[in-house]
Amino acid sequence: MASFSNMGVICRITSPPPRSSTSSSRALFPTFRSYSYSQISRSRSCRLGIRCSYAEAVREDPSSGAIDVVADVKSERIVVIGGSGFVGSAICKAAVSKGIEAISLSRSGRPSYSDPWVDQVTWMAGDVFYANWDEVLVGATAVISTLGGFGSDEQMQRINGEANIVAVNAAKDYGIPKFILISVHDYNLPSFLLQSGYFTGKRKAESEVLSKYPNSGVVLRPAFIYGKRKVDGFEIPLDLIGKPLEKILRAAESFTKPLSSLPASDLLLAPPVSVDDVAYAVINAVKDDDCFGIFTIDQIKEAAAGVKV
Ligand SMILES: NC(=O)c1ccc[n+]([C@@H]2O[C@H](COP(=O)([O-])OP(=O)(O)OC[C@H]3O[C@@H](n4cnc5c(N)ncnc54)[C@H](OP(=O)(O)O)[C@@H]3O)[C@@H](O)[C@H]2O)c1
Repeated sequence: MASFSNMGVICRITSPPPRSSTSSSRALFPTFRSYSYSQISRSRSCRLGIRCSYAEAVREDPSSGAIDVVADVKSERIVVIGGSGFVGSAICKAAVSKGIEAISLSRSGRPSYSDPWVDQVTWMAGDVFYANWDEVLVGATAVISTLGGFGSDEQMQRINGEANIVAVNAAKDYGIPKFILISVHDYNLPSFLLQSGYFTGKRKAESEVLSKYPNSGVVLRPAFIYGKRKVDGFEIPLDLIGKPLEKILRAAESFTKPLSSLPASDLLLAPPVSVDDVAYAVINAVKDDDCFGIFTIDQIKEAAAGVKV
């Protein structure tokens, strides 16, 4: 069995202008309609011409502050599958902070907690296997899937593999120009340990993204992700462990590097990554048309640094 292997990443860090968003929550029922790539790509970028003749204004009134501006403004509309989850909600929050319109699709729809950014996301309730893509994907410029989880081997194949493959194909059918998958680091595990439904599902999903989106698909492979995970009204502060651990492992990197060739060594040595870094790496990928391929833990941090305030 092939192991997870790193592929080239092409990435340019960008920092774009803000945009407003809307809020709503609705249930979904399946119907189908398709959109061409050109329709979607036209919605991705619009040229705003704000013209007021500076020369004329100055001639008439030299104190006038009128200016002549032609600006390129990109309008992004992202669909986050699993936007109500731990990583998905951080992506929605980061998108809102950057003026990107965010739509979340998950079975539970809108999360129960309140926060100002929550009101700026469109929360849709639906199962990825039965989603009304016509409502979810129209006008989207990127789809991000955070689908994944644990359970029996069959359940892991279904949520890590099949569910993501359904999402990739829906996005492709609707001509959405970019797909971003939250996958996982392989922890340098020997190939027989990568045969669980979790890893084989992830690998199938990755292949689908990279084959359907060879020039724009993005796969992020974080190890342990820390932050504040909300579960049933409680907050689990994973950052209390994750943050110091990341610092220690990064500081010790030059000593531990020789051990990285040992099988499964990354179970102990792969640095955790903050949920905000994963979210901002996604935002960077959304904004940069030249950004595609597989992102390792270090590349996730690097990409995030380019867009974090
Ligand atoms: N957390 C980590 O440390 C870590 C580390 C490495 C990689 N990852 C990967 O990162 C991704 C996100 O992890 P997470 O911790 O954020 O997971 P999570 O909190 O469980 O979020 C999963 C999201 O997917 C939604 N979902 C599940 N099944 C669905 C379905 N059939 N249709 C629509 N939505 C569905 C869930 O909402 P509903 O249940 O309401 O549908 C939830 O919003 C996963 O792929 C995971 O493997 C996580």
